[in-house]
Amino acid sequence: MRPSAPRFAALVAVLTASVALAGVFDLPRPAPPDRYGTVLIDREADSGSSKAVVFSHWRHRARHSCRVCHFELGFELQTNATPITEEDNRNGEFCGACHDGKEAFSVRDEARCNECHAGRIRADKAAFSEFAKKLPKAPYGNTIDWVAAGEILDEKYALFKDEKPMDFDKELLLEARWYNISPAVFPHTAHVEILDCANCHPDVFNIKKKTTEHFEMRFILEGAFCGACHLTVAFPLDDCVRCHPGMKER
Ligand code: HEC
Ligand code: HEC
Ligand code: HEC
Ligand code: HEC
Ligand code: HEC
Ligand code: HEC
Repeated sequence: MRPSAPRFAALVAVLTASVALAGVFDLPRPAPPDRYGTVLIDREADSGSSKAVVFSHWRHRARHSCRVCHFELGFELQTNATPITEEDNRNGEFCGACHDGKEAFSVRDEARCNECHAGRIRADKAAFSEFAKKLPKAPYGNTIDWVAAGEILDEKYALFKDEKPMDFDKELLLEARWYNISPAVFPHTAHVEILDCANCHPDVFNIKKKTTEHFEMRFILEGAFCGACHLTVAFPLDDCVRCHPGMKER
């Protein structure tokens, strides 16, 4: 079938934008779907007797919101930024909050240390495919549409208190600085269902639209602002249209 005129124009607009962006900035090459969002923690481990620790986001976010770990348990939103020790874990902090032998295998179980201390990024392709095939698809990242999947998975929002997400549905249209680029959308709802306001305000974004300094695509690509999550864990920047919906209309 021949694409209709507006669709064809859209494709050109996206391609032009991608080419322009790829020319000016480098899009990092994303990891394959089963490893996207899997990190290797080797801040302390890997120096003495213990090996580097593998942590997969897809497994964990299926059951718990980002907020549980990145707000309640105090994990930083950056690999190797959190001072985690074996003692902390054994005292029920960090990984030990769940890996207590009840919720998940224990940090004290001598037979299972290496499930975490694997020494390298380990991915279970078969388990990932089994998991992903039941969920709605997206084109990039884990190739899972995590927003739609949230309805099916129903991950726990809070660990300690019976808290509920705040009802805050303000959707923002963030105008780009380039005349030929359609604005980006920022839907609060999709974010506040899994994150705390404090994950973004005031450290990442000011709480007033278009007042955040240096809020530009080139810094986003360096891991600032939207790039704090949309390079490594949430769908990657390759998915222009999901943030710039106008790119498919023009
Ligand atoms: C649920 C995952 C998990 C399990 C299970 C686990 N650890 Fe760890 N461990 C970690 C993480 C995460 C760190 C922090 C690594 C870093 O920052 O480099 C860590 C750090 C360590 C460190 C280095 C920091 C320190 O306190 O000296 C040692 C030693 C260690 N673990 C030993 C063990 C032993 C022994 C076992 C098994 C009895 C074990 N761990 C089981 C996740 C785990
Ligand atoms: C079960 C706990 C847990 C959950 C749930 C979780 N994370 Fe993480 N996340 C971690 C840990 C642990 C690290 C590594 C922190 C460290 O090493 O200091 C991390 C690191 C990150 C990083 C840095 C990645 C990198 O490549 O450096 C980002 C971004 C991130 N998480 C975003 C998220 C988002 C978004 C969600 C929800 C969709 C989420 N996390 C859910 C535990 C979790
Ligand atoms: C909020 C609860 C929670 C926290 C915090 C948590 N885990 Fe887990 N973890 C789980 C649960 C539940 C499972 C079992 C998941 C399943 O069966 O699908 C699991 C499974 C795992 C597995 C085995 C599956 C796999 O991905 O290979 C590893 C390894 C692991 N966790 C590492 C870690 C490390 C390392 C940390 C800390 C940096 C951590 N977890 C923190 C709940 C948690
Ligand atoms: C994932 C990040 C993120 C989370 C989580 C988040 N916000 Fe925002 N918020 C933003 C961004 C981005 C802006 C726009 C900043 C800019 O343009 O400089 C914004 C702007 C705002 C504004 C100003 C809107 C306007 O029209 O000027 C308010 C009010 C706000 N947020 C409240 C909240 C509240 C309340 C929560 C928690 C329920 C929350 N935000 C959670 C990213 C977030
Ligand atoms: C703290 C982490 C974080 C930050 C910062 C962040 N996001 Fe997200 N965003 C997520 C997660 C997690 C999702 C769920 C989808 C996924 O994981 O792929 C999401 C989903 C979205 C969606 C899809 C909504 C839907 O209904 O499908 C859009 C659009 C989006 N983000 C835009 C933005 C923009 C624009 C910014 C910067 C202004 C931003 N995000 C900043 C974590 C973040
Ligand atoms: C996670 C959301 C997100 C994704 C994905 C995304 N962008 Fe953006 N983009 C933004 C935001 C937010 C702005 C507005 C920044 C500002 O205030 O100027 C922007 C602005 C731009 C600008 C204007 C330059 C600037 O700094 O304002 C260009 C060009 C652009 N985007 C191209 C792209 C292209 C091409 C893709 C796909 C390869 C893409 N973007 C993917 C969020 C995103």
